[in-house]
Order: sequence, then C-alpha cells, then structure tokens
Amino acid sequence: MKTQFPEHFLWGGATAANQIEGSHISDNKGLSTSDIQPFGSFGALHPRQEGDFNIKDVAIDFYHRFKEDIALFAEMGFTCLRISIAWSRIFPHGDDAQPNEAGLAFYDQVFAEMKKHHITPLVTLSHYELPLHLAEHYQGWSDRRLIGFFEKYAETVFQRYGHFVKHWLTFNEINITLHHPFTGSGLPDDCSEQTRYQAIHHQLVASAKAVKLCHEIIPDGQIGNMLLGAMMYPLTCHPDDMMKTLQQNREWLMFGDVQARGYYPSYMTRKLKELGVTLEITEEDKEALKATIDFISFSYYMTGCASADPSQQDKANGNMLQMVANPHLDASEWGWQIDPTGLRYLLNFLYDRYQMPLFIVENGLGAVDTVTASGEIEDDYRIQYLNDHLVQVGEAIEDGVDLMGYTSWGPIDLVSASTAQMSKRYGFIYVDRDDEGNGSLKRTRKKSFYWYKEVIASRGASLKKPGRF
Ligand code: BG6
Repeated sequence: MKTQFPEHFLWGGATAANQIEGSHISDNKGLSTSDIQPFGSFGALHPRQEGDFNIKDVAIDFYHRFKEDIALFAEMGFTCLRISIAWSRIFPHGDDAQPNEAGLAFYDQVFAEMKKHHITPLVTLSHYELPLHLAEHYQGWSDRRLIGFFEKYAETVFQRYGHFVKHWLTFNEINITLHHPFTGSGLPDDCSEQTRYQAIHHQLVASAKAVKLCHEIIPDGQIGNMLLGAMMYPLTCHPDDMMKTLQQNREWLMFGDVQARGYYPSYMTRKLKELGVTLEITEEDKEALKATIDFISFSYYMTGCASADPSQQDKANGNMLQMVANPHLDASEWGWQIDPTGLRYLLNFLYDRYQMPLFIVENGLGAVDTVTASGEIEDDYRIQYLNDHLVQVGEAIEDGVDLMGYTSWGPIDLVSASTAQMSKRYGFIYVDRDDEGNGSLKRTRKKSFYWYKEVIASRGASLKKPGRF
C-alpha cells in the first residue's frame, strides 16, 4: 500500500553527544563514563589506560561544526533532530552545587541554530553516559543519591531550554543496564543481579521524577521514555519456545510497563524472586513512579529469536545484546539481522500494549562506505534498508498506529557506540575520519542524502516497493 505520511509527522535524524561532539574536556566539561570507553560499550571491561587513544575525544567535532551540520540537516528537510545533552557539560562531576555556565551556553547556541532552521529538537537527557565522578565515587546508579542529582540536572535544563525544547526523552535505551551495566548505569559489568536491578529501579524513579518536573516546568512539553526495541520471535512454535519468547520480551517491556503504567508489572514479583533480588522500594518511590510518560520511543535495528532449546547456539549479534539467529533473515556487515517487517510488527505490538503515541527515534544501517575516485558515495544498500523500513512504517500508520515521527540513527557519520569505530557508518553525510582518527573531518553528501530529502519532501510518496533499488 502506498502511504503518504501525516503532515505533522516529524522527520529527521538522531545523534548522541558522546558520539558526535568531541571536545570532551573543553569549557569545564567533566569526564563522563563514555570518555573512558575507548573501545565502546562492548569493550567496557577494558577501561581507558594512560595514553590510550579515544576517538570520541574529537568524534566528528560537532562541538565546533554544529552550524554546518544543522544547515545540512535543514537542506535535507529535517523537521526534527534528536540530540542528547552531555550531563557532564552541565554538571561536570554530577554532584556539583552549581551548573557549568559554559556547558549551558553551548546548547543555547545549538538550539538557536535549530530554531533558525525550523527544526524541532528532541532531546535525550542521558544517552549512555553519566559524569565519571558518579561512577567512581557513588558506584553509579546503585546509589540512591543519583536520583537527586539527576533531578537537579533535569530541572536545570528544563528551565534553561524549555522555552524552545518541547520534546524530551529521559534515558536512552533504559533497558541497556541488563546487558551492559557500565554503559547504562556506571556499574562494573560483572555486578550482581541485586545491584543491577536496584540501579535500574533508581533510574526508573529518576525518569519518573524528570517526567513530573517536565510537566511542571514546560506545561506544553512532552516527555517520553526510550527503549531498545529488542523484539524476539519464537524460533519455533514449540510451546516452550513460545513461553521463552514471552519471558525474554518481558525483560525489556518491563521498562515500558513501569514508565507507561506507573507501577511494576505483576510478572516482576516472580522474576525478582527467582533472581534472589530484593528491591528497596520506598513509599516515596511508588508515588514518584506514578508520573507516567507522554509517549513511547524506541530504537529499532533488528529482531532476534528466542529458543528454550540449549542446543540452539546459532547466535546473532545485536545492538548491545545477542539473540538466537533467525534463519529467514540476512544480516548487516556487523551481523545485525535485517527485518523491515519486524518494525511494523513492533509498532503494532507496542501500540496494542500501551495505546500511547509512539516515536521511532533510531533506525539505520551501519555499513562500510567507499568513496569513489570522483569523491562520491553511492550508498544504495543504505537507501534500500531505510526505504524498506519506512515502507513498513507506512503500513503501521495504515494499521492505525499513532506515530509521532521517525529519526534515523546517525544522519551524519558518527562514532559507533558498541565498537567505537568511525568505519561503521550510518550517515546521509560522510565524514572524512577513519578509525585511527586520520582525516580532514570534511562533510560530503552521500547518494542517500538526496534520497532522504525526496522522501521527506514527498512525505513518503517517493518510497519504492521493497527490493526495488
Ligand atoms: C543504539 C544506541 O543502541 O544503537 C546508539 O542508542 C548507537 O547510541 C546505535 O550508536 C547503533 O549502534 P552502534 O554500536 O552501531 O553505534
């Protein structure tokens, strides 16, 4: 079916501070947990040693080039840009009494530039980083005091930017602490289940407190959560596989359930008991959790399978987690299985479950790009991937899903979160920088740049039937 996306639909791209900004200690910025992950989330157990190179120290230098980049996004017709604020630019240690004015001023300029180009900001409060001091001196989110520090940070940025920024997200892929505790919560990756779930609880309370603050400070604002949409299919229709699938999906849906409903789902009682976890949940926490989000946002890159059969060892890589491979799907160069139909499935599934507006805030293909002798980048594979996913998004809209927008991941090449590579490129805009940090940082429009521009201008009417490129 040919769909024209709704007029109010927000089109754009999504980024994260630590993957684009660079200038990791400029203007009083404090170190963040990401600054000591030179090998990315997957290498979190090898923290930075003296003299180690971290590509994120410069990243793509958005800190100095944001005007040029935002102008390029505007040229593509973006009506929305997702960025994150680096918490450690605003509160360098996380527990500081006063915010860092230079850090606040940087985002003033970024938002002014977006305003100039009529681009709606979508801002993540915490995208895979927290001030390193909080990880080192408080054991990250396992310490209840982080709720207060986060509240103060959220209040500061709501007050400062709320006149222009109306769309907010609390924690990027809040379910990540299940798989990468350091990246998600500043905890050692080998922490106990007790520590992990207590940290998750503190984040859920902090998220709800930010929701309440946002509603108070920005009455016309909207604030959502952000889930890693890790949809699992049963590997077979064996009842044990079905049950396993239900349980695995509940692992990540639990976060949405708490954030959308305001309390823990009943299935968590048994789960925590089986894990031997006793959560400290105060009456104040229960009250705080009642502040529920306005919309559900999520990242979507792939689906995976669940199997109750321990001999099923054919694993597929994923963004931050591993799952059983689906024999019906192809995979990207990084082994992420490609499933456009899964996006329609997930949108319907989430809408059925929550009956709340949804927002796709990440989707894209990480691939190696080659620059031709004449300086062009013919990224038909990326066009194919995005086209086929957007066709399914259109189908979901036809199915009746209330979808606010779509921001593809990495509209400009940026540093990979899992592997800290530049060569894993997602962008419509090529950035001349390699994995060792060589390159001029020059920006070049790829073939997909012109393709996405046409998709936005035609509100999806230019999309082709899957497999037509
Ligand atoms: C998501 C993250 O998991 O996937 C992003 O929110 C990340 O930060 C994206 O960049 C793609 O993953 P990667 O590892 O290819 O950068």
